[in-house]
Amino acid sequence: MSLAPRFARLAAAARVGGGAAGSSSSSSVSVSRAATAASVAARRNYTSPSQPAKMATPVDVAMETKAGRGSTQKVMNNDIISEVLHQAPRASTAQRPIYLDAQSTTPMDPRVLDAMMPFMTNQYGNPHSRTHAYGWESESAVEKAREHIAQLIGADPKEIIFTSGATESNNMSLKGVAHFYGQKKRHVITTQTEHKCVLDSARKLQDEGFDVTYLPVQPNGLVKLEDVEAALRPDTSVVSIMAVNNEIGVIQPLAQIGELLKTKGAALAKEAGLGGKPMFHTDAAQAAGKIAIDVNKMGVDLMSLSSHKIYGPKGIGACYVRRRPRVRLEPIINGGGQERGLRSGTLAPQLVVGFGEAARLAHQEREYDYAHVSALAARLRNRLLAEIECVLVNGDPEGYPGCTNLSFQYIEGESLLMALKDICLSSGSACTSASLEPSYVLRALGLDDENAHSSLRFGIGRFTTEEEVDYVCEKIIKVVHKLRELSPLWEMVQEGIDLKTIQWSG
Ligand SMILES: Cc1ncc(COP(=O)(O)O)c(C=O)c1O
Repeated sequence: MSLAPRFARLAAAARVGGGAAGSSSSSSVSVSRAATAASVAARRNYTSPSQPAKMATPVDVAMETKAGRGSTQKVMNNDIISEVLHQAPRASTAQRPIYLDAQSTTPMDPRVLDAMMPFMTNQYGNPHSRTHAYGWESESAVEKAREHIAQLIGADPKEIIFTSGATESNNMSLKGVAHFYGQKKRHVITTQTEHKCVLDSARKLQDEGFDVTYLPVQPNGLVKLEDVEAALRPDTSVVSIMAVNNEIGVIQPLAQIGELLKTKGAALAKEAGLGGKPMFHTDAAQAAGKIAIDVNKMGVDLMSLSSHKIYGPKGIGACYVRRRPRVRLEPIINGGGQERGLRSGTLAPQLVVGFGEAARLAHQEREYDYAHVSALAARLRNRLLAEIECVLVNGDPEGYPGCTNLSFQYIEGESLLMALKDICLSSGSACTSASLEPSYVLRALGLDDENAHSSLRFGIGRFTTEEEVDYVCEKIIKVVHKLRELSPLWEMVQEGIDLKTIQWSG
């Protein structure tokens, strides 16, 4: 069953009267594969579910079933999620809210689904079965996928270990290396702006008696090389610094850090008679497929990858584990010895194949995707900054453009989100048990609580369209102006009062 060609044909037909999303952005950048780009743009149109007018096959789903994504359950009035999805079509012409949350997850590319289908139906062999054809065909597909993933990051396929996602790869890298060296090397370095799963793995190691240094970042979100150097100890076993930050898109200087570990890190360990350099781990969940990655040029020893951030299926990821010189780590999952003994358990060929196809496409279309995403990000940012006053751009402006983080001062991001029910975005506040906490990443940049709470993250991806960006801009401009009109704080700012000088009572 092949879905993509059918979608492409339908989408091409729909484009005749609809204009091609992506084509205008591709014209503003130099990408040589014009023909490929045009056919990709056709496919992209189909998968813009929030733009039904542009959809090849607009489907009129009954209101009762829409919120449940096709389930036949009635919409529950007290179910906030259902309510939002239920109201979205009334708030705009969209059938589904516009999705601008590409760091959270990405929609699966139809070409990925095509590749997966046979392994969910008649090619169901266990890839570890060595005695018959069903096993062999699954194994061969798994190995092909491994090659695609390796190619995306400049690795050897034997260095790719499949896991359930970047969370597992991060746990495996930090705990695995620290546990392997145990008493001999008791120090770990990471940064304050890592993903929770790195920070929590580090905390767990601290509970076990390891020392952890959490490096601060500069106001633009970048770590200082001098800080990394100063933190190195002879007994540092692993340094974990992410490639692209998931909240602000900042790109850390991996190649320089890799070099520092090979020189200063190795020298410190040698002087103390502790052998090899510290292992360099990077969480590249938001980087692979988005920016150029080469594990050798960057001197990386371990790298975490996630399929669902690159238009592949959820529930699968990988850990790159260097073979020469060999990285030593203790597995966190034991069993049948699959995946070089580092991650036991039967692989899920359909997920592996989907991840492999997503990686192949990301590698093949990276330049096109980057150009598309950066053109849309510039369009969004320029318009919002031109038409709204008092907007802060959070994070290094040279970061990954598909992750744009802006603070709309004197407005709560959460109130903004409530007024933007037909747009899916993330705010700079995280729900803890009872309260809204400002994002620890934004706080690490030095933002105060108010500016952190007033931030929104715009996650632009392969299937985002110009029309969606324009709709979002118009809506945000309108809502920000309206909320500020109602805000006594904004009135005081207009009167020239410095809010920091006010003593609030109560
Ligand atoms: C930087 C980063 N690391 C790790 C993860 C976790 O990835 P996964 O969902 O594959 O476990 C995410 C996803 O939110 C992420 O953005």
